[in-house]
Amino acid sequence: MKTILWATLTGNGNYAQSSSNNPPKKEALGDFAAHAQAAGNFIVGRRTFEGMQASNGGGTFAGMDIVVVSASVKEIPGVTVVGSPREALSYLQDRGYQTALISGGADLHNAFLGQGLVDELIFNVAPVLEGKGLNLLIDTEKYQYKEVELLNFKSLGSGFIQLHYAIGH
Ligand SMILES: NC(=O)c1ccc[n+]([C@@H]2O[C@H](COP(=O)([O-])OP(=O)(O)OC[C@H]3O[C@@H](n4cnc5c(N)ncnc54)[C@H](OP(=O)(O)O)[C@@H]3O)[C@@H](O)[C@H]2O)c1
Repeated sequence: MKTILWATLTGNGNYAQSSSNNPPKKEALGDFAAHAQAAGNFIVGRRTFEGMQASNGGGTFAGMDIVVVSASVKEIPGVTVVGSPREALSYLQDRGYQTALISGGADLHNAFLGQGLVDELIFNVAPVLEGKGLNLLIDTEKYQYKEVELLNFKSLGSGFIQLHYAIGH
């Protein structure tokens, strides 16, 4: 099973964060929905999932296998809750998926990256700069730099650019 980390970045390379006064843009949301539909699933951190529930009630993702990663919560109605990134992958692997989509947020993305559990990256670069913020980090004890292979790039419209990379293992 292939794992794809999907994330929106700001033009100056930060990890994009949304809030009620800075909601996610339609280009990013539409692209996420398309990738989630194609995979049939997504893995999400407990905090981001709670944000999704608050903003759309989860209706957009009806019928999808949603896997919430949490060390503190054991059950959430309608989704599968697991205790670690590896458990999330084994759950989806056992269900026969070809692809697991890792949808964020920052803590969860960094847990997957830090444990070397990501095969491909999809970065949507938004036309915005952010003053201070979060970063995606690889296993900092093992690597200072890690080269990745550019598989594709395209415009998503309204100034959004998508970069698609493979991470060699
Ligand atoms: N740029 C993007 O593409 C993108 C995508 C999604 C979200 N976001 C943004 O990201 C922010 C939220 O991200 P966040 O970093 O605060 O939270 P998050 O990653 O969504 O969720 C963090 C929670 O997930 C659980 N978790 C994460 N790693 C774990 C691990 N290795 N083992 C067990 N549980 C683990 C923990 O839950 P418990 O506390 O329950 O143990 C942790 O508190 C928001 O600003 C949102 O807008 C951005």
